[in-house]
Amino acid sequence: MLVKFSGLLLLSALSGFVTAEETANIEIIAFNCFTCHGEEGRSQGATPSLQGLPGKYVQQAMNDYKADLRPGTIMPRIAKAYNATEIQALADYFAQLKQPQ
Ligand code: HEC
Repeated sequence: MLVKFSGLLLLSALSGFVTAEETANIEIIAFNCFTCHGEEGRSQGATPSLQGLPGKYVQQAMNDYKADLRPGTIMPRIAKAYNATEIQALADYFAQLKQPQ
């Protein structure tokens, strides 16, 4: 039997203005942050949680780490790996994750 799928377009519920492809990329990038900041930014340890932080806060922190304007043990090195577009997308990503009630 031949099953034919109609051209189903799966749209991401993440954010209104990023394309599906960009959304997939940001999830891959954000996965790097989960190692220390916990799954979906919900930290279980000493590393601060990122989930639900205001986007502007995450963006500013990343830009300041990148420019060595904010002290940190590891983040100044990590932040340098991302460009402005990626930092913006990371900030939007963590901001839209709801904090647990
Ligand atoms: C190797 C572990 C590690 C990884 C990976 C990591 N972080 Fe961090 N992050 C830290 C630590 C530790 C701190 C506390 C500051 C410091 O010591 O550098 C921190 C602090 C932060 C802060 C400031 C939080 C606050 O409450 O002020 C932000 C924002 C942040 N990280 C974003 C990210 C993002 C985005 C990623 C993924 C691109 C990421 N981090 C990946 C360990 C990590």
